[in-house]
Amino acid sequence: MIDFLGDWKRTHYCGSLRATDIGKEVLLMGWALRRRDHGGLIFIDLRDREGLAQIVFDPDNCPDAHAKAETIRNEFVVAVKGKVIPRPGGTVNPNLPTGEVEIVVTECRILNRSKPLPFTLDDYVDVAETLRLKHRYLDLRRPTLQYNMILRSRVAQYTRRHLTDNGFLEIETPFLTKSTPEGARDFLVPSRISKGQFYALPQSPQIFKQILMVSGFDRYFQVVRCFRDEDLRADRQPEFTQIDCEMSFIDQDDIIRVMEGLIAGIFKEAKGVEVTLPVERMTHAEAIRRFGVDNPDLRFGLELVDLTHTVKGSGFKVFADVAAGGGIIKGINAKGCARFSRKEIDELTQFVAIYGAKGLAYVKVTAEGWQSPITKFFTEAEISAMSDAFSAQEGDLLLFVADKPKVVNDSLGRLRNHLANILKLTDKETFRFVWITDFPLLEWDDEEKRWSAVHHPFTAPMDEDLEFVESDPGRCRAKAYDLVLNGSEIGGGSIRIHQEKIQSLMFKMLGLSTEETRSKFGFLLDALEYGTPPHGGIAFGMDRLIMLLTGSDSIRDVIAFPKTQKGACNMSEAPSPVDSKQLRDLGLKLNA
Ligand code: AMO
Ligand code: AMP
Repeated sequence: MIDFLGDWKRTHYCGSLRATDIGKEVLLMGWALRRRDHGGLIFIDLRDREGLAQIVFDPDNCPDAHAKAETIRNEFVVAVKGKVIPRPGGTVNPNLPTGEVEIVVTECRILNRSKPLPFTLDDYVDVAETLRLKHRYLDLRRPTLQYNMILRSRVAQYTRRHLTDNGFLEIETPFLTKSTPEGARDFLVPSRISKGQFYALPQSPQIFKQILMVSGFDRYFQVVRCFRDEDLRADRQPEFTQIDCEMSFIDQDDIIRVMEGLIAGIFKEAKGVEVTLPVERMTHAEAIRRFGVDNPDLRFGLELVDLTHTVKGSGFKVFADVAAGGGIIKGINAKGCARFSRKEIDELTQFVAIYGAKGLAYVKVTAEGWQSPITKFFTEAEISAMSDAFSAQEGDLLLFVADKPKVVNDSLGRLRNHLANILKLTDKETFRFVWITDFPLLEWDDEEKRWSAVHHPFTAPMDEDLEFVESDPGRCRAKAYDLVLNGSEIGGGSIRIHQEKIQSLMFKMLGLSTEETRSKFGFLLDALEYGTPPHGGIAFGMDRLIMLLTGSDSIRDVIAFPKTQKGACNMSEAPSPVDSKQLRDLGLKLNA
């Protein structure tokens, strides 16, 4: 029998009850969890989004309610009236916020039943993610996911409040639009009215927010969905949310100051963590030199050591040849890892191979000196110089890669993070921020045989590098900056090009013809010619930010309805075929 809600109104959330509520008559509604029968008494944990309360049914006092309780199963939706009493001595549960009290039920209504669940909602039980995603409504009932979504809501609200208080206006930009390049593929939407034509979903609101500056709104923000058709990883989704900002009449320092204020506010609000301001800054060149990557995790050392000059004349042919060919030799001192077995070192070698390294030379520093197949190729002086460069001590494992700079930095940079995981050097409750500045403006794309923008094509070159944009593109630095937290890029932005001439030159550098430039970006170039103020901005990846705030390993754990690695929604089964009438209406015919 299922009861009606009738005139019952909830008075409290289950999870909100405390010792101060003792003596109150309450009406609770929630989901039943764990029914226990104890010699006549029935105990049920009633759960809602705020937590659990223990409700007790006594057959002597309330036989009707007790009879109903006997039929309650896990996840039935139950409403109870009752009185809050202290738990009898010895049964207090200090691990539960409501653990000092229980509710003796006087009346009970069963509002709905539930089939037995396909998996338990216990946070500690491992369940295949495909099953969890298929029944996402159940998965979302788990306390961890409830916490993540509640924290996410608080961060979004705080962000709106903070930015509004700082003079930013929340303005929406279109989803059905023209391509905004951010380096990924576009998701396309066919137009029914203009057959054969397509909208692109925005990879970001970039062009529109710049045009809002042209219009004089001065400070803009949006908590906005972006769409990118790219290969997915643990920290990427095809649709994700940015905290997107743009400001006029400012320089890089102004943006950094305002935005680190926002981030510090979010950490205080969501975690009670004080972020020390100003946040440390590091140039892109320094990040690559010391850490191999532009998103260094500063929670641990294991810095890269450049040995090119020390070993270029050595008898180890691999190193000497690479140095002679313009390559570099760098290494990492894996502190205390001389104990690694051959198998463990082989695994590290396979790991760096993913990033193109052709080998991973190693040295174990022992009491008897250097132990390694390559020791014999080095002179005493070379060994001593390398030992100094590494600050090597007995028990250390020295690892080397020799190759083109990109391969060396990529592979050792990733190996550094990999070693930190193995050695458990990363504490999720430590938050190390760093701004990376002075990015290169352009990088050579070997596949496409053209220059491409490191940030995006709207990013301004540094004033002093402007004259080299055409003559020596590789040496130009950009007014671009990323905010990195614990090795994750949580935001990126730049000062923009606000002059039509320079923007046109940039498109030319990227290999676009005048016609392509007009058809893709004509509206932006036109706008730039009507009094565009100097401006710049940034976007934070809100999902990544919430991942770090909640200590989640997967971006899917901070999004209510995420996509799988294959870009699918297991619950609604999107993407899915459409019927032929829909295709006809759109003027589309399938090839396969
Ligand atoms: P960018 O492309 O660096 O900059 O994106 C800004 C931030 O968005 C997050 N992010 C993602 N998060 C989840 N899944 C994805 N697929 C994904 N892609 C990016 C990252 C990143 O730092 N318009 C510019 C910003 C600007 O210049 O103002 C932009 O979109 O955390
Ligand atoms: P080999 O001379 O090929 O037997 O290599 C000797 C050692 O050097 C092995 O441990 C290889 O993994 C390592 N090695 C080979 N090529 C490289 C390279 N490009 N960078 C670093 N180590 C390498």
